[in-house]
Amino acid sequence: MEQEENQDGSGFKSNLGFILAAAGSAVGVGNIWRFPYLAAKDGGGLFLLIYLLLVFIFGFVLLASDLALGRKTKKHAVEVFGFLNKKWNFLGKLTILIPILIITYYPIVGGWFLKYSYDFLTGNGNQTISNNFFTNFLSSPYRSIFWTLVFFMITACITFFDVESGVERFSKIIMPGLLMIILGILFYSLGLKFTDKNNITRTAWDGLKIYLLPDFSNLSLKRLLEITLDAMSQLFFSLSVSMGIMITYGAYVKKDINLSKSIRQIELFDTGAALISGAIIIPAVYVFLGKDAMSQGPSLMFISLPKIFNTMGFAGQIIAVLFFLMVAFAALTSCISITETIIANFMRIFKWSRKKASVISSIFITFGLVIVCLGYNLFYFELKLPNGNTAQLLDLVDYVSNNFLMPMISFLTCIFVGWVIKPDFVIKEMEENNGF
Ligand code: ALA
Repeated sequence: MEQEENQDGSGFKSNLGFILAAAGSAVGVGNIWRFPYLAAKDGGGLFLLIYLLLVFIFGFVLLASDLALGRKTKKHAVEVFGFLNKKWNFLGKLTILIPILIITYYPIVGGWFLKYSYDFLTGNGNQTISNNFFTNFLSSPYRSIFWTLVFFMITACITFFDVESGVERFSKIIMPGLLMIILGILFYSLGLKFTDKNNITRTAWDGLKIYLLPDFSNLSLKRLLEITLDAMSQLFFSLSVSMGIMITYGAYVKKDINLSKSIRQIELFDTGAALISGAIIIPAVYVFLGKDAMSQGPSLMFISLPKIFNTMGFAGQIIAVLFFLMVAFAALTSCISITETIIANFMRIFKWSRKKASVISSIFITFGLVIVCLGYNLFYFELKLPNGNTAQLLDLVDYVSNNFLMPMISFLTCIFVGWVIKPDFVIKEMEENNGF
């Protein structure tokens, strides 16, 4: 997807094409992996409530601003702010720091999906049920680096050969397929119950209540702020806003596409996928491991889902392969959009050709990925983050980009739209076709 193409008239020709591509970029690791573990850590219902409020208020505005800035100017993130006001050039540079940080761990999570697909495909899925399986896998540097690089090499080849449109064609089948499979797993998993060695029986319905009903007891201001910041970071990450990606997508959207209708559909798809993932993973953790296991952090989906698949017998092995492959595909489409944003911006900053920008960025990304993978073994440390998480290197990079830089960029973007170019700039662009 290149800007030059856009200038000679191509780009997203239909609402559906644009919605599928933008939703493909939005739905990924954030929905299936990040959302459930944050919601579980933050006690379920209250996180959910704050997240939904933020999505439909700030999410809409931020997505609208990014897309409108891109469509109106036909510029990429790195150029758009400086193009509209020279003094704000710094914001474009700051914005592309986000995909650069995120790409140092996104393919690692994609590699975990591939690893689990492989294990279930080769009949070793039952080993993944053990609570230590995931930690043991991470502590082996070679295995973790291997799967990360497999995932990233697939992304790098697609962006190098510029064949994203081929992938987008597959996403028309795979994304609805993913939605069907997670809905199927949801209906199945709500029937789960488990009696532990203390003779306590826990049901998925009780787990679902924890996920859906806000619990205000013992809520301090500090806790409320922590949860709000977590929900906000998730919103930026999940909708791919304030990281330049949606500005680039905006540059490819034709004038006759109804932006506000498209934004509502992208938000519904993205939020729906996250809500269903949470509704599968959180009750499963509660059923099999109890309430204390909710704050497991990034490993949450990898310790809970194999336990659900295991209860399904042989069918579970097949469903697990399909599920992890589809999730890996969803992660791939998002990872492509992150890598593409880096390449497109590097081409503009350094005046490199596409191939040169792809190769040089891939070398640096590979280097970054290896270092972050080693954060689980060679460079292992435990750092207490302000949101209560105990972080390793991956969580630290995730925290710096999503809880610190993204809120700052979003805030600056709001000042820019609100006071520098004025809201009318975005409003007029949104009203361009059929209005709100
Ligand atoms: N929006 C992408 C995701 O949620 C980055 O995975």
